[in-house]
Amino acid sequence: MEETIRGLKRTHMCNDLRLSDVGKKVTVMGWTHKRRDLGGVIFIDLRDRSGILQVVFHQDSDAEVFRRAESLRSEYVIAVVGTVVKRDPETVNPKIDTGEIELKVEELRILNVSETPPLYIEENSEANELLRLKYRYLDLRRPDMQRNIILRHKVAKLARDYYDSLGFLEIETPMLTRSTPEGARDYLVPSRVHPGKFFALPQSPQLFKQLLMVSGFDKYYQVVRCFRDEDLRADRQPEFTQLDVEMSFVDADDVIMVNEGFVKKAFRDILGIEFSEPFPRMSYQEAMDRFGTDKPDMRFGLEIVNVSDIVENSSFNVFSEPVKKGGSVRAINAKGCGRKFSRREIDSLVDFAKENKAKGMAWIVVEENELKSAITKYLSGEEIKAILERVGAEPGDLICFAADKNEIVWNVLGQLRLELARRLDIINKDEYRFVWITEFPLLEYNEEEKRWEARHHPFTSPMDEDVQYLETDPGRVRAKAYDLVLNGVELGGGSIRIHSREIQSRMFKLLGFSQEQAQERFGFLLEAFKYGTPPHGGMAFGFDRLIMLMAGKSSIRDVIAFPKIQNASCPLTNAPGNVDDKQLKELHIKAMV
Ligand code: AMO
Repeated sequence: MEETIRGLKRTHMCNDLRLSDVGKKVTVMGWTHKRRDLGGVIFIDLRDRSGILQVVFHQDSDAEVFRRAESLRSEYVIAVVGTVVKRDPETVNPKIDTGEIELKVEELRILNVSETPPLYIEENSEANELLRLKYRYLDLRRPDMQRNIILRHKVAKLARDYYDSLGFLEIETPMLTRSTPEGARDYLVPSRVHPGKFFALPQSPQLFKQLLMVSGFDKYYQVVRCFRDEDLRADRQPEFTQLDVEMSFVDADDVIMVNEGFVKKAFRDILGIEFSEPFPRMSYQEAMDRFGTDKPDMRFGLEIVNVSDIVENSSFNVFSEPVKKGGSVRAINAKGCGRKFSRREIDSLVDFAKENKAKGMAWIVVEENELKSAITKYLSGEEIKAILERVGAEPGDLICFAADKNEIVWNVLGQLRLELARRLDIINKDEYRFVWITEFPLLEYNEEEKRWEARHHPFTSPMDEDVQYLETDPGRVRAKAYDLVLNGVELGGGSIRIHSREIQSRMFKLLGFSQEQAQERFGFLLEAFKYGTPPHGGMAFGFDRLIMLMAGKSSIRDVIAFPKIQNASCPLTNAPGNVDDKQLKELHIKAMV
């Protein structure tokens, strides 16, 4: 029979109590974490969100209270009144903050009972994730999950304080809106009032934050939910949170500095990690050339080296052909791996390269007095010498090659670089290496549809010095766009926007939007831009990803209270679910399945 808390007031959280509280009479409430029955004495680890406190029941001090303590089971909810006492030195528990004391109980109220939970409520549970998400409310009782959620709160609070202190305003933007131009599939919401019409849930507040700049709000930020119907991964959810920022009268450098300031403050104030130097910046081109990706993990080397010029005229067609066709041959020197990896392991790297769309992966093992390789017989002595010199080869090294179109070569070697680092276990999990990637290409050629597309969105400004190539050589135009990358994860990105109507209309023309199409999709924004638009730009952080990295986790699901699983459903609520025919009818919708 559950008791009430009538007359009782919680005086402390479990983890508030220390040696200095010895002798105090306190009231604490929480869950029965563990129970140890030593015959005559019962120890309960009482848990609340702050931590754990040991409470003790003695049979000889109050037999009635003791008898009821015997009925306590895991996850019963209790309130106890008692006196804080010092533990004997031999029973001190250094593993918990309250380990030097315990609570000698005088009064116990069993506020609620619990069935045996389907999950162990313990640190770093190994339980299957589907089960964890089905019983998420229990999973969230686990101390590490509680720390993640508390961390998330702290970072959001710090963000609000930080941007507020610089004069930013948090302004909400609509959730029921029109399709936004971020490029993923939209989640749609049917309109009852307008048969056949749909709202789209925002993929980001992009257009609204630009309108707010037109309105003169000057500095905007928002902690905001965004929705994208795309394939899920460890760092992607269908609904996720952005820390979204926009500013007027700024250039890329101003946006970068303000937002870098936030990240540094968050790491300093919350994790105690100080970054005294500006984060390094690297152009997109350099990132691709050195790391094969625009989100390089900078915690380790294994950089990519271009050897195209050496093999361009080689009689070995596998190398010379791709270069002649505009592609390249690049290599990674896997230091010491010639010695470390067996032939089977090297073969499995070849398979790995093939899985990443390479036709194959040529390799050379450098030994003291010879080279082991299937390709050296096709290369001239000079070519081999030049390659080995370029990659800095020493005895014991393994040189891996990719030869193909640039996109394929970058992707294969970028992935191979990560795979090598994993196999060599050289990534320091406690290290945080930030890098800004800048000067992205403005456009991307869609081979299938034979047309140029905006890489970011159609309002991203080209770099001033490249505007001249918009019509003549679009692939060469770089954008005033920047991404912040941390340990190989894209943490955020943004751009300076086009505020000149002349450039905007050249951009739309390039993207193949007719006047009417541009008007239909973005008419309201173009209309707004007629009335005095300040130069503006901004960026958005993937807030879940930031928290994931700060918490040292590898999935954003661990830092979202109620996330969805891979197939975009929720095992807790079983959403998405069926609806009544009546509801569908009202919405003028017929389900086709
Ligand atoms: P972008 O589309 O690059 O830019 O998104 C910004 C950041 O949001 C995070 N992110 C995601 N996180 C979890 N799940 C997802 N499905 C997901 N998609 C994106 C990433 C990404 O860097 N409006 C622009 C910003 C701007 O230009 O100001 C935008 O949304 O960390």
